[in-house]
Amino acid sequence: MSPVRGEGGGAPAEAGVPSPAAGRAAAARPRPAGRTPAVPRNDGPRSPAGASFQEMWAELLPIGRHPGSGGYRRYAWSGADRECRAWFEEQAGARGLAYEVDRNGNQWAWLGDPAAGDAVVTGSHLDSVPDGGAFDGPLGVVSSFAALDELRARKTRFTKPLAIVNFGDEEGARFGLACVGSRLTAGHLTAEQARRLTDADGVTLPRAMEAAGHDPEAIGADPERLARIGAFVELHVEQGRALDLSGDRVGVASAIWPHGRWRFDFRGEANHAGTTRLVDRRDPMLSYAQTVLAARREAELAGAVATFGKISVEPNGVNAIPSLVRGWLDSRAADQATLDTVVDGIRRAAGEYADAHGIDLDVVRESFTPVVEFDHALRDELGRLLGKDTGLVVPVLGTGAGHDAGILSGRIPTAMLFVRNPTGVSHSPAEFAAEDDCLAGVRALADVLEGLACT
Ligand code: GLV
Ligand code: MN
Ligand code: MN
Repeated sequence: MSPVRGEGGGAPAEAGVPSPAAGRAAAARPRPAGRTPAVPRNDGPRSPAGASFQEMWAELLPIGRHPGSGGYRRYAWSGADRECRAWFEEQAGARGLAYEVDRNGNQWAWLGDPAAGDAVVTGSHLDSVPDGGAFDGPLGVVSSFAALDELRARKTRFTKPLAIVNFGDEEGARFGLACVGSRLTAGHLTAEQARRLTDADGVTLPRAMEAAGHDPEAIGADPERLARIGAFVELHVEQGRALDLSGDRVGVASAIWPHGRWRFDFRGEANHAGTTRLVDRRDPMLSYAQTVLAARREAELAGAVATFGKISVEPNGVNAIPSLVRGWLDSRAADQATLDTVVDGIRRAAGEYADAHGIDLDVVRESFTPVVEFDHALRDELGRLLGKDTGLVVPVLGTGAGHDAGILSGRIPTAMLFVRNPTGVSHSPAEFAAEDDCLAGVRALADVLEGLACT
């Protein structure tokens, strides 16, 4: 019997997707609000991994943190991102690992010869969403180095190459597309498409890479690199409360919901806010606002999620009726058919509202990630490795959040470990995980790497 439980990831309760009820429950629970969420404390005894985890965590903590919000603004190829990347290189050097940056700007730290093949890779990302938390991404990278330290303390002998990776631009906060580093590597994003990505200031991705010291000339698919990897395991803070509810510190991922981003452009007519009669207006804000409500309705009906979390308005004046309202929809569902139904419903409603107000509407799908079912054999192997000493059954969770492990899953066997998040809050300064749980994650990752790379 497989030592995993709770299979069938994707159902909202297991998926870590904050259902309205779960969201209310989370809101009612005491949160670590008002204090720094990014400093997990524990004054108990330290393992080597614990000590190194603490040090690394403390070093990363101030980088890119906004003093006002307390959240992180580590956007791809920005100054804060460069500091994080310099930190990664230092960690690699301090451990005598061979450091390299691949053609797409992803950073790698190798123990053993990459050319030997069948490498076991772990890691995550260091960039953030606007005002993100400290854990989403960095927990996986810091835990990877700490797990290696733990294995060295155990005097483990590796029989396969091991690598730690920091994937570039996972969140897509700057250029609008998530997981750019892994998408390029996997060939899901072409070099031409990537060259056209532009940030809000009109800076293209290649220009941003250049400014940060990375030559963008060779960006593109990297099948040779992927061919050297036998397994990729990404550790991540859970972005939901399934582990909190089940009372487990660590879980294994089963699946990622299909998800995408759509841009809705509502074009009307700029005019004077004081002198234009209501009947004479072509105000795109009205159709946009109605569309936001429609998104909520459609998502509720389908048991999915739909979010307008980013908006830009032109001319953006208090006393001017807007000429353009541009809103970005993020929608996710357990399966493709449901997601299609939700997005079609929102589009249809937006079209009707736009017509009613004399507004021109354009909808563009900017990105899409199909459902990901993580490699079953690897998932079961993780469950076996984690349960082997205790006999405990490891929970298996689906998630509505995207990850580099999901992007790579069609190319190489991938798996994920989740670490308990007591409030479920993520993509927020209040994101939190307790130190004991983080260290349990490090030990779990070390056990998994030992089992996979020391056979
Ligand atoms: C990334 O965190 C995403 O799910 O959007
Ligand atoms: Mn994220
Ligand atoms: Mn992440």
